[in-house]
Amino acid sequence: MDKELIIVLDFGGQYNQLIARRVRECNVYAEVHPYTLSLDKIKEMNPKGIIFTGGPNSVYESSSPSYEEAIFNIGVPILGICYGSQLMAYKLGGEVKTAPVSEYGHTDITIDSDSKIFDGVSRETSVWMSHTDYIANVPEGFKITAHSSVCPVAAMECAERKLYATQFHPEVMHTAEGQKMLKNFVINVCGCKGDWTMESFVETKVREIREQVGTGKVLCALSGGVDSSVAAVLLSKAVGKQLTCVFVDHGLLRKNEGDEVEAVFGPNGSYDLNFIRVNAQERFYEKLKGVEEPERKRKIIGEEFIRVFEEEAKKIGKVDFFVQGTIYPDVIESGLGKSAVIKSHHNVGGLPDHVDFKEIIEPLRLLFKDEVRRAGLELGIPEYLVFRQPFPGPGLGVRIVGEVTADKVRIVQDADYIFREEIKNAGIEGLGQYFAALTNMRSVGVMGDFRTYDYAVCLRSVNTSDFMTAECSEIPFSVLQKVMNRIINEVKGVNRVLFDLTSKPPGTIELE
Ligand code: XMP
Repeated sequence: MDKELIIVLDFGGQYNQLIARRVRECNVYAEVHPYTLSLDKIKEMNPKGIIFTGGPNSVYESSSPSYEEAIFNIGVPILGICYGSQLMAYKLGGEVKTAPVSEYGHTDITIDSDSKIFDGVSRETSVWMSHTDYIANVPEGFKITAHSSVCPVAAMECAERKLYATQFHPEVMHTAEGQKMLKNFVINVCGCKGDWTMESFVETKVREIREQVGTGKVLCALSGGVDSSVAAVLLSKAVGKQLTCVFVDHGLLRKNEGDEVEAVFGPNGSYDLNFIRVNAQERFYEKLKGVEEPERKRKIIGEEFIRVFEEEAKKIGKVDFFVQGTIYPDVIESGLGKSAVIKSHHNVGGLPDHVDFKEIIEPLRLLFKDEVRRAGLELGIPEYLVFRQPFPGPGLGVRIVGEVTADKVRIVQDADYIFREEIKNAGIEGLGQYFAALTNMRSVGVMGDFRTYDYAVCLRSVNTSDFMTAECSEIPFSVLQKVMNRIINEVKGVNRVLFDLTSKPPGTIELE
C-alpha cells in the first residue's frame, strides 16, 4: 500500500469508527480492523501508526480481547485509548485496578509534562471519561503526562518507544481539544504528511475494484439514493460496461424520481454502464391491495423487490460480484471481528437469495454519510442526487398510512413535491428531513359551494443528527400556509393539511 495508513485496532469500543473518521479528518487514511488481525498482516500493511480503541472489558478477564506483546516492539507508534491504554499498561508490566465507582462524563484533567500528544493543548482541559478500571501504576520506562482529581493516570507515554495512552476518549466531541491530540499523534508522532484526500480515496478504490473484479461481471441494485448512486459510479469508473445496474421502480418513489434516476444513469446519462429500469409499479400495488398493517407492508415491499430483482438478474445470467452501497452506519459491527450484519431496515429487503454471485463489493463500508457525499461530489455526481434527503427503502409505502393505492401514491407524491418546492423557494433546505405523508383520515370540508369528504395530508419536518432522536423543526408560518394553500388547490383528493409536531421518541420519523 503506497498511502499513509493508520490502523485502528478494534477492542470492542463503541467509538471505533469515530476514531478512524477523526484521523481521516487530519487527511490521513485510517481503517478499523478487529483485534484479531495478525501481527504479520499488520507489518505487511506497513502502517504509520496504530490506535487501540476502547472496549467494555477488563484486562483481567481471561476472555477479554488482547494482543501479543510483540506489537509494542515493532517500532510503529501506538496510541491506546481507554481499554486500549489499560491493555498497554497491563501488557508492559504496569498495574490496572478496578475503581469502586465508574468515572463517566466530563472531567477536567491537568497536563503534567511536555508531551508531543499535548502540543498546543491547554494545561487544564476538559475531556470525556467512560471507565471503571484505571491505570494505578505505569509500566517501567513510562511517565504520567496527565491526571485528574480521581484518575491518577489520565495519560501516559514512553516517548522513546513511541507508545502513548489516554484513559479518556480524544475522539468524541466532548473532549474539547481531542482532535488536536489525535492530530498531534498522527502528524507529530507518526510523522504522517496528511496529504490524503477524498480524491485519493476515490482513486485508490477505483484501482482496488479493478484488481478485484478483473474481467468479471458486476451487478448493482441501484435505488437512486446517495449511497447506491455513489457505489454505482465508483464501479462504473472502475469497470465500465462490466457493470449492470438494475433499478426497480416500485411505484413508491417520490414524484419524478424514477425519471431523474434514469436521466443520470440511463442510456442518455453520464456514465459508462448497463442500466436496466424495471417498471414494476402495478405489481407492487397489486401485492399491497387491502394490506393495512405497517410491518406487513414493509415485508411485502421488501420481498417483492427481491423477487423482481432476481428475475432481472436471471436474465443477465451469471454474475461474479454484487455491489451494495452499505455505509458505516448501516453496518452493525460486533466490534470483535465477527462478520457484519446488514440491517433489514437498510435497503429494500437486503440481499437476494437466488442470485448467484461469488463476492459482495461494498466500497463505501468504511465511510460516514457526509464522507459518502464528499466522494459523490468528487465523482462528479449531480448535487441534487448527492444531497438527497434520506428516503426509506419501502418508500412512500411507509408514508401512506393504511392501504396503498395508485391514487394515494399520486396524492402523496404531489403534496410532497409542493412541500419540497416551497421549502426550496424559502431557502430553508438545511432544515433536516422533511416530507409529506398521507393519513388515512378523511374528513368533511367545503370547497366552492360544495361539501367535500377527502384525505388529510400530514407535513412532517424534523431536525436530527443521528436519526435515533428527532425534534420537529420550525418552519415559518407563512411557508406552511403557502404549502397548505397549494396542496388544497393543486392536489385533488385532499381537503385538509396537518403539521406533525411530534418528536422522536415517542413518534418515529416515518409514519409507519
Ligand atoms: P424512523 O421512522 O425509524 O426513521 O424514525 C429513521 C430514519 O430512517 C429512515 N427509514 C428507513 N430507511 N429503510 C431505509 O433505508 C427503511 O425501511 C426505513 N425506514 C425508515 C427514515 O426516513 C429516517 O431517516
